[in-house]
Amino acid sequence: MLHRPEVTAGRVTLDALRAQDAPALFAYRSQDAVARFQGWRPATVAEAAAFIARDVGSPWAALDGWTQWGIRHGGALVGDLGVHWLPGPGPQVELGISLDPAWQGRGLATEALQAALRRLFTVDGIHRAVASTDPENTAVHALLRRVGFRQEAHFRQSLYWRDSWVDDVRFGLLSTEWPAG
Ligand SMILES: CC(C)(COP(=O)(O)OP(=O)(O)OC[C@H]1O[C@@H](n2cnc3c(N)ncnc32)[C@H](O)[C@@H]1OP(=O)(O)O)[C@@H](O)C(=O)NCCC(=O)NCCS
Repeated sequence: MLHRPEVTAGRVTLDALRAQDAPALFAYRSQDAVARFQGWRPATVAEAAAFIARDVGSPWAALDGWTQWGIRHGGALVGDLGVHWLPGPGPQVELGISLDPAWQGRGLATEALQAALRRLFTVDGIHRAVASTDPENTAVHALLRRVGFRQEAHFRQSLYWRDSWVDDVRFGLLSTEWPAG
């Protein structure tokens, strides 16, 4: 299905990105603080618009595909949450999240990630969620631990990224371990 499920929890709603989100998506995704640990950085609003068009035209839950949720707060796009439907024998996902720096430090990413996990574990039947992170990205490590992920590995120079070998710190969370606490 092309449709992205809408999920509301606490102060945030997750739903499909829209063409009119391109200026907001560009405004935060092009900032150094957001792009530093991300593979995609738009150079123009048009690139952000093309990203949205590609995403909304791709099916939800297609194996080995990435699909995006927009994170909305008070009607504004404040971030995005990507789901990578991992290929393999069972349903597993890799997650990636970005929040506009203007909206960081208020717990909105925590609520967005909890909302996504609730949907993925209880409706989509996902068995395990994982995240791949930079060792220096302490904000995402704190976020992942806050919602119940545990660090499972620290691979030394396992990724070739931006012309050099970099470490990969992996986190995981099983559906049976959620919700944490
Ligand atoms: C990863 C990222 C989304 C985390 O954002 P964040 O704002 O730190 O996370 P939250 O929105 O959950 O906010 C948590 C902070 O708000 C505080 N907070 C305030 N009110 C809160 C509430 N009601 N609930 C939870 N936390 C609250 C927490 O104490 C925490 O602050 P601290 O970091 O000083 O301890 C953000 O750093 C980001 O977008 N980074 C750039 C993109 C990126 O690198 N993504 C990861 C790629 S793998």
